[in-house]
Amino acid sequence: MGIDIEPTGAALGAFVSGLELGKLDPDESATVIEALGEHGVLFFRDQDVAPEGHIAFAESLGEIDVNAYFSPNETYPQIAEVRTRPENTYVIGEAWHTDHSYEEAPALGSILVARQLPTSGGDTAFSSMYAAYDALSDGMKETLRGLRAVHSSYEAFGIGLSKLPEEERSERFRDGFRFGPDVVHPVVISHPVSGRPVLYVNRSFTTRFDGWTAAESRPLLEFLFEHGSSVEFTYRFRWEPGSVAMWDKRCTWHKALNDYRGQTRLMHRITVKGCPIAA
Ligand code: OGA
Ligand code: MN
Repeated sequence: MGIDIEPTGAALGAFVSGLELGKLDPDESATVIEALGEHGVLFFRDQDVAPEGHIAFAESLGEIDVNAYFSPNETYPQIAEVRTRPENTYVIGEAWHTDHSYEEAPALGSILVARQLPTSGGDTAFSSMYAAYDALSDGMKETLRGLRAVHSSYEAFGIGLSKLPEEERSERFRDGFRFGPDVVHPVVISHPVSGRPVLYVNRSFTTRFDGWTAAESRPLLEFLFEHGSSVEFTYRFRWEPGSVAMWDKRCTWHKALNDYRGQTRLMHRITVKGCPIAA
């Protein structure tokens, strides 16, 4: 069974077939990591991935990074549950973001498996930070290459979660989570696999430029957050039963669509550890 990698035709993403995800050999794992670095996000249809296979797929790509905030699955603590109940009015990840940028060595990627889907809606949109960088002017690229930015989990998970009703917070998030110290990353990184330049800031976790105040940083950050979500850099994935998506967290943003009010959606997520990133 050969691997087939079919690009979506948009700025990022490819559909992959011909792999049994829980049983990759080392060559197949290397192909997946390389394809992720090239396409940013890989989609797999009609998979029959039990939690054990999901864990085995992740472990064939690297070490599992257990998310500090999301509620873990009761039986498999490596799996984070991304839950929406009918009574919830916001969905996890509804602003454009990249997960784990607040870590010193941001995660390589996450593997999301659909467990329970709404009758319609609940798509996930992805955006290419290669394309976002490439589309900037030479002057802006040069300016950004001289900057570093502060990434923090505090705004999103500290302030953000403190605003949720207690019952909802305890249902969807872990008890007693802790914030790591803020970290600083270059605004333009070199992708650890492809070597291509990437715009590496995001609305959920980037708070300011290093050495700048938050107020000074806001206009330029706001421009970059808007620019990065331009529709020509994006691809919108429609989930079906048996769908699996894996995104590279260094070169993409993603956003969960909040358009299925009153319904349940449950996704299982496993995150794979990454490496330090540099300009
Ligand atoms: C995530 C996330 C998007 C979705 O798991 O990090 O943002 O569509 N999920 O559930
Ligand atoms: Mn996310």
